[in-house]
Amino acid sequence: MEIDVQGKHGEQFYSLLVGLIAPRPSAWVTSKSPAGIVNLAPFSFFNMFGVNPPVVVFSPTLRPDGSKKDTHLNIEATKEFVIHASTEQHVDLINQSSKLLPHHESEVDWLKLPTEPSRVVDVPKLVGIPWALECKLQQIVPLGGGPVSGNLIIGEIVFIHVDDAILDEKNLPDPRKLKSVARLGGEYWCRTQDLFTQQRPK
Ligand SMILES: Cc1cc2nc3c(=O)[nH]c(=O)nc-3n(C[C@H](O)[C@H](O)[C@H](O)COP(=O)(O)O)c2cc1C
Repeated sequence: MEIDVQGKHGEQFYSLLVGLIAPRPSAWVTSKSPAGIVNLAPFSFFNMFGVNPPVVVFSPTLRPDGSKKDTHLNIEATKEFVIHASTEQHVDLINQSSKLLPHHESEVDWLKLPTEPSRVVDVPKLVGIPWALECKLQQIVPLGGGPVSGNLIIGEIVFIHVDDAILDEKNLPDPRKLKSVARLGGEYWCRTQDLFTQQRPK
């Protein structure tokens, strides 16, 4: 199959591209509205893009009607958020938290998930998740402005929480303990159990 994408509406390539660019980790994001409602949602357009300063980026797309998702609105207003790990243990809750609730309703309350205050940002973090990154907004970059277009939320990590239980003897994350999951195309996800190593060229 070959497709010339130029001049075509990008939205129609969504299912193809998320199947090709896979696996993708998910940012499981808490944010807070100016009215104090805590929002929770997963975003698999996500990664880290540098460590000096430590920068993460994820992308809530605009909805098909062109409106902004709650996470996007909240971060635009309050400039803070917390990203949590996506792991096997919580995969069902991660998936459930993608439910479209009205802006004034909290996914955290709906799923009855316990939260606790963060250390630096004024957005609560989820309790009992292997890691969480408190972030301050650096900038939002809109990628088009039409329906389902992306919006890069570029955030600087200001505080890192890691559960010691997922660390190895060098105090680094042990993937066999962390048990990350990632998104593939369609309704597929993958675990991180089939591990192998490679030496980097000198
Ligand atoms: C695992 C997973 C990953 C997702 N990744 C994204 C994403 O990268 N960008 C996006 O706009 N929506 C993504 N979604 C859908 C959002 O989570 C969904 O639209 C959610 O309702 C947004 O919530 P909010 O309006 O509270 O911010 C994903 C859903 C799931 C289950």
